Amino acid sequence: MTERMRVICSHLPAVGTLADVGCDHGYMTKYALDHGLCERAYVSDVSAESLSKAEKLLEREIADGRCFSVCADGLEGLPEPPDCVLIAGMGGEEIVRILSRGIPQQFVLQPMKNADKVRAFLLRNGCGIVADYTFSDGKWYDLIVGFASGDSVYSDWEIAFGRDNLKNPTDAFLRKIRKEQRDLRNALASPALSVENRDALRKRLYELEEITDAIDGDL
Ligand SMILES: C[S@@+](CC[C@H](N)C(=O)[O-])C[C@H]1O[C@@H](n2cnc3c(N)ncnc32)[C@H](O)[C@@H]1O
Repeated sequence: MTERMRVICSHLPAVGTLADVGCDHGYMTKYALDHGLCERAYVSDVSAESLSKAEKLLEREIADGRCFSVCADGLEGLPEPPDCVLIAGMGGEEIVRILSRGIPQQFVLQPMKNADKVRAFLLRNGCGIVADYTFSDGKWYDLIVGFASGDSVYSDWEIAFGRDNLKNPTDAFLRKIRKEQRDLRNALASPALSVENRDALRKRLYELEEITDAIDGDL
């Protein structure tokens, strides 16, 4: 397991049924079953080749009837709605598309990009978000954990950057936005930029500066 997977798994709740959608290797389901975090698990992947890795890793659990493999798109093809869905390592738009067909009671999501779209979707659908922050494993990742009910209320900034990053910023988040600020300043120093690109980069830099100023001033 990588550090990224360990962080994600530390947020898995103890449930009856877990669905690991886009499971690929299946390491996180193996962790959940080994640590008693679920009684039953579904490993699901749209790619038969990816799913076969999980089937191999979880051969014993499948033979014992504690794990079931499903080759399907998202949550389609599962014989029951899971208590918790884990979707990690996929784009945010794909996560939204999958959850548009139904949001399980609990979710642990790690979008690779467009985390803002995932947050906006969850909030529009009345979800309660209990953890929402950036962590690092050499690269930066967003993690969003919550319940299908709970009606969290976010500001626009919280949707864009992640609520916990603003309320209680992690080192990973601060390093991420400070790096983006440095990259933007370097890009803005280039004389070859078009006016439109310069304006867009400046706008983003001001936005990030507002965030870091607010954090430094204890938002
Ligand atoms: C980068 S891997 C992530 C594997 C694992 N979840 C992780 O975080 O390490 C993404 C996996 O999602 C699968 N996938 C992509 N879109 C999917 C969908 N709509 N439904 C099910 N699986 C999907 C891919 O086939 C691939 O195996």
